[in-house]
Amino acid sequence: MDRYKKVKIYKTFLFLTILGTTSGQFAKGASFPTDDDVPMVTGEVERREDDQELQFKYHDHEEITRYLRAVSARYPALTALYSIGKSVQGRDLWVMVVSASPYEHMIGKPDVKYVANIHGNEAVGRELLLHLIQYLVTSYDTDSYIKWLLDNTRIHLMPSMNPDGFLISREGQCDTIHGRHNARRYDLNRNFPDFFKANTKQPQPETDAVKEWISKIQFVVSGSLHGGALVASYPFDNTPSARICRSSVLCSVFQSYAHTPSIAPDDDVFRHLALVYSNNHAKMSRGVSCKSGSQRFDNGITNGAAWYPLTGGMQDYNYLWHGCMEITLEISCCKYPPAHELPKYWQDNKQSLIKYLAEAHRGAHGFVMDENGNPVERASVRVKGRDVTYHTTKYGEFWRILLPGTYRLEVSGEGYLPQEVEFFVIDSHPTLLNVTLHSAKGHVQTRGDAPKRAKLTTSTTAAPRDLNLTIAFPED
Ligand SMILES: *[C@@H]1O[C@H](CO)[C@@H](O)[C@H](O)[C@H]1NC(C)=O
Ligand SMILES: *[C@@H]1O[C@H](CO)[C@@H](O)[C@H](O)[C@H]1NC(C)=O
Ligand SMILES: [Zn+2]
Repeated sequence: MDRYKKVKIYKTFLFLTILGTTSGQFAKGASFPTDDDVPMVTGEVERREDDQELQFKYHDHEEITRYLRAVSARYPALTALYSIGKSVQGRDLWVMVVSASPYEHMIGKPDVKYVANIHGNEAVGRELLLHLIQYLVTSYDTDSYIKWLLDNTRIHLMPSMNPDGFLISREGQCDTIHGRHNARRYDLNRNFPDFFKANTKQPQPETDAVKEWISKIQFVVSGSLHGGALVASYPFDNTPSARICRSSVLCSVFQSYAHTPSIAPDDDVFRHLALVYSNNHAKMSRGVSCKSGSQRFDNGITNGAAWYPLTGGMQDYNYLWHGCMEITLEISCCKYPPAHELPKYWQDNKQSLIKYLAEAHRGAHGFVMDENGNPVERASVRVKGRDVTYHTTKYGEFWRILLPGTYRLEVSGEGYLPQEVEFFVIDSHPTLLNVTLHSAKGHVQTRGDAPKRAKLTTSTTAAPRDLNLTIAFPED
């Protein structure tokens, strides 16, 4: 009982600390738990499953918990373990940070993430993230690329967003949906607020936890790991109803088979990100269909809605609400293949998993400051011609992943004169771009007032970003 309490306090502390770092509340004087407080691995069974030799087998929730605690105890300088909340049945939604600065956001350097097992019966990603953790911590001293990555990136890895669904899933079941949903039978990848259509599904604790998490940490790129196909799928997943469809149920059924792409303002970047995953994968880019008659994908990538549209998905939400570029990675034709196949999946995906995260270092990033050099929080950052608005962090930081080219950045903040800056992006390293905003006081604003944006009428959900739908959906 005593021990349990200690562990709980420890977890709460870590959670607050890790979230706090991004909102600037990190208490400088606070001391971290001493070795005595860190839950230690004890007993023979646990010792076999410690970080020395992570086995290729499926780990249940308790085994994952033990493994993550063992790693955080053994690699305190490279890892931090926190829980973002609990599942319906009370299981922790664990996240492990792997970074040279696991406890504290590195100002000016990106945070990135993977979330696996949002569908409880899609089990490969869950194990791959454990192996990714293992690989990163054991390669830091020997692999200069991994060292660079961890020195310059905070990698947050969530092996399971749906531990309750996993519990009732069965190894060897390739195509069923048993275990897909959470314990209240909600599909968590249909449970997020949606930009295009009203999502009336009751928000679930797992989804709420993720929403709070990504509102507190500015993630730059993200991958959501799934199974049942072999393809990297990128936003948008959803599409606005065509005008004639608004009142007809049959029409919306028809539309879900229409395979019409739903093009995001950063379509070129999303295609590139999806290609980075598929081209670094052992076979995804060949676009071979999983079984005869099932769909094949050119280069192993697809626009989400072109495959099939869905409402309430996680990737559109990440992008439109929080400026985090997330794609959906379908990494195994069989949703829950036999454990003896896991080494192959790890080998097939290892390079992709790493290279994809490093894409956070592409494009432009920098700081928005006022005339005195103080950071401007929640300034709007837009790339001209791309109608999606990103916002600066507490530290004035922004990141904008872009392909090589010349761009104009439009920056504005309340009480400041809007500013436009031309910049270019090259392939080999990110462009550092600092923008100073000048106070609007004392200036006569001629064209500074923020232009009114067209309101989205196809959604009842408050749109957090003023996306320009005339670009994406000319017919609507
Ligand atoms: C940009 O601003 C940051 C934060 O104030 C500073 O550390 C950095 O040196 C600046 N870089 C340039 C190129 O001005
Ligand atoms: C949206 O984009 C179109 C096409 O680039 C442009 O003509 C229009 O002015 C934009 N609308 C808004 C409100 O930004
Ligand atoms: Zn899935």
